[in-house]
Amino acid sequence: MTNWQKSDWRSKPRVQMPEYTNADALRAVEGRLASYPPLVFAGEARKLRSELAAVSRGEAFLLQGGDCAESFAEFSADGIRDTFKVMLQMAMVLTYGAKVPVVKVGRMAGQMAKPRSAPTETVDGVELPSYRGDIINGFDFTENSRVPDPDRMLQAYLQAAATLNLLRAFSTGGFANVHEVHKWTLGFTAGNEVKKYADMANRISDTLDFMEAAGLTTETNHELQTVDFYTSHEALLLEYEEALCRLDSTSGNWLAGSGHMIWIGDRTRQPDGAHVEFCKGVQNPIGLKCGPSMTSGHLKSLMATLNPDNDPGRLTLIARFGAGSVGEHLPRLIKAVQEEGANVVWTCDAMHGNTIKSSTGYKTRPFDSVLREVKEFFAVHNAEGTIPGGVHFEMTGKDVTECTGGVRAVTDEDLSDRYHTACDPRLNASQSLELAFLVAEELSARRATLQQAKAG
Ligand code: PEP
Ligand code: CO
Repeated sequence: MTNWQKSDWRSKPRVQMPEYTNADALRAVEGRLASYPPLVFAGEARKLRSELAAVSRGEAFLLQGGDCAESFAEFSADGIRDTFKVMLQMAMVLTYGAKVPVVKVGRMAGQMAKPRSAPTETVDGVELPSYRGDIINGFDFTENSRVPDPDRMLQAYLQAAATLNLLRAFSTGGFANVHEVHKWTLGFTAGNEVKKYADMANRISDTLDFMEAAGLTTETNHELQTVDFYTSHEALLLEYEEALCRLDSTSGNWLAGSGHMIWIGDRTRQPDGAHVEFCKGVQNPIGLKCGPSMTSGHLKSLMATLNPDNDPGRLTLIARFGAGSVGEHLPRLIKAVQEEGANVVWTCDAMHGNTIKSSTGYKTRPFDSVLREVKEFFAVHNAEGTIPGGVHFEMTGKDVTECTGGVRAVTDEDLSDRYHTACDPRLNASQSLELAFLVAEELSARRATLQQAKAG
């Protein structure tokens, strides 16, 4: 991208971003961030792109998950470890079921800015600006806390750096070694999904023992000892993104240094808007949320802007229509992709179209709706002959009660027990694992059908 500059977005219409009142303070923070090291390296973003290219061909599967919004208050080593553990468990279940590598991408180490459906929030007759994520303002319902504060970007940067550091340590320091497959379980989970996981882990251990006995050393095999784990977040707060944007000297291309993959939200995907302008110029893999209002025309224009060279792995389309609506919207967008001959990864965010208010007043998501949306996503791709490349979940390794349902049925009344999210309701560890088994079933059924078709 020859003439593109990292500040070009500033001349475009911006939505969902804060109006900082203290321009000097903002400039000082941007200057400091611009002098700090980037969080990721361009070679990693390129590696993720090539892995996503494999996903686009059906040779790998994408698992993307993590918090709706990471918060300063919930930041802890245990929290990071537990989400990482659940993702490892889910990835193992998917690899085992689908017999393809799983590309693991956390909504972690930077997922701190939130688009909101309303600019203000009213509680007991008091109206205040909405909470926009800890990188922007505070969750507390006070006038002071809701003022956007640029210094929060520095705190967010430090938190993202420390999170990424721990994730890297876990990924390569022995924790993610496949021989440890039994140890990734979490103490508080005890349902059927846990038993299924233990059975699978036993079979994996047996296989490893067999390989050792047959003279294939697995103990020192790098592929089995480590995992690649990538980070991602919505590139919403463009002052932060610009300050961490760097020119990669090897390729001469720009890199969003804030995370491996960044995505454009469903509310900020205006083809001529600031967010698309920023994302088009960086070489990272880009995600694009596709909600019910996305037309074929929008999608075609966004694909042309964001992936003009039609590189596989560059663009991931994250469908989020809601259970019962996939059949109405997805075929039109698949057709648009086919008409353009575009290379994309199709993935299913089964969370954001399924948010409801429970009878007890909490924002929740029924597990059954999440599952149904995933199934509809697979069914449409199976019918269209296209590739369901991955899933995208809001989830946590904590034992929260935020989404209803699942084998250990969380009810509307249970929601108040452990409702900790700073934004949208997340699947808990047990619901996440259960879902992974169900996705694995879809994948292995698909694989059997494809093999049969080949053989026949
Ligand atoms: C999100 O992923 O947290 C989000 C806000 O999604 P969407 O842009 O799809 O609503
Ligand atoms: Co969310």
